[in-house]
Amino acid sequence: MKTYFVTGGAGFIGSNFVLHILNTYPDVRIVNVDKLTYAGNLENLASVLDDERHIFIQADICDRTAMAQAIDAYKPDFVVNFAAESHVDRSIVDPGIFCQTNVAGTQTLLDVCRDAWKTSSGYGDHKFLQVSTDEVYGSLPEDDKSVLFREDTPLAPRSPYSASKASADLFVKAYHETYGMPVNITRCSNNYGPFQFPEKLIPLMFHNACNHVKLPVYGDGMNIRDWLYVEDHCRAIDLVLNEAPVGEVYNIGGHNERTNIHIVEQVIQYVHNNIDTTVDASLIEHVTDRLGHDRRYGIDPTKIGRDLGWQPETPFEVGIIKTLDWYRTHQAWIDNVTSGQYQSYYERMYKNREVLS
Ligand code: NAD
Ligand code: DAU
Repeated sequence: MKTYFVTGGAGFIGSNFVLHILNTYPDVRIVNVDKLTYAGNLENLASVLDDERHIFIQADICDRTAMAQAIDAYKPDFVVNFAAESHVDRSIVDPGIFCQTNVAGTQTLLDVCRDAWKTSSGYGDHKFLQVSTDEVYGSLPEDDKSVLFREDTPLAPRSPYSASKASADLFVKAYHETYGMPVNITRCSNNYGPFQFPEKLIPLMFHNACNHVKLPVYGDGMNIRDWLYVEDHCRAIDLVLNEAPVGEVYNIGGHNERTNIHIVEQVIQYVHNNIDTTVDASLIEHVTDRLGHDRRYGIDPTKIGRDLGWQPETPFEVGIIKTLDWYRTHQAWIDNVTSGQYQSYYERMYKNREVLS
């Protein structure tokens, strides 16, 4: 029986990963460590909170004592580090917490794992997997679609968020080179699916459209993101954990580049067709651009396909409907996460954005 030590398992991708693993393997144990920041939500895990294979611990990955105690108590085979501050807009307003959680937190976990796992004969079958992002590579030219992020593309982060993730990647690599730690790094493109907090593009636009609130498209709306259904990302992470040689980095993506305005129009069309026929494109409002806004992301996933046999299984047209169906049928979940502090967050982020003509 394998024990997975998952950090950030109450967030969007982490909770999808926990559910994926528990649904895939009957004989498994998950130790789920999450600080429960604004982005962590135990409602995401409601279906497994009573499952004895799932152990939840509320703790901060920066807390060395708590991490050491948990690793010592459960002796995990794998550590999968999802825990992070993940929203670019927040990192522009308050970079410090990104440095703390994403860099210092990752380095703390690496230290704790090294000390717990290292023996005179090495690290056995343990593995530390760092869940990173395509944003560490910076921004691509929009006029040449043949240029994609490869694993050997130089790191060139441009936002405080991506700088913190790139720093964490360098620490993970350094622990591999210096202490021989068995690590992998995965760098995935934009995820979408159930349980994504509505500070991110798709759930935010859905929530606003349903409530007849303007849809704030940054700049000209022609920035490009490469979208992957979250379940496909979770499968890839598990494959890398179980099959990949240590020390390797894998890009994860599904060749699915879309402009933001295209995504927003799809959300509007869904809401119009399924919820409220009065919702239309007149809700779109082009507003002041994100500072330093990366223009285009595009992943080359050749390596993980060739070496590990991973392929995305969910076409975007299927995944986006599944996702929006999920939000439509989980109104209570949306109501809960958009009450309280969400309103002041929204005011802070959007009130002063100028509407572009
Ligand atoms: P999220 O913001 O939805 O969830 C982050 C989780 O981490 C939350 O549950 C939060 O409570 C927890 N957390 C935050 N600080 C913590 C701390 N100090 N200690 C313990 N737990 C803490 O993020 P997400 O979108 O699920 O992203 C998960 C990971 O995947 C992140 O590392 C992110 O950089 C990476 N990633 C995200 C995407 C994407 O499109 N969302 C794509 C590629 C990579
Ligand atoms: O590429 C992977 C990354 O994808 C992850 O590492 C990050 O954790 C995740 O948040 C995501 O980052 P983005 O900045 O691409 O995602 P976000 O949903 O914030 O924005 C997607 C695009 O939509 C981006 O070009 C900005 C734009 N946008 C976003 C919001 C919230 C808008 O135009 N209006 C908005 O209100």
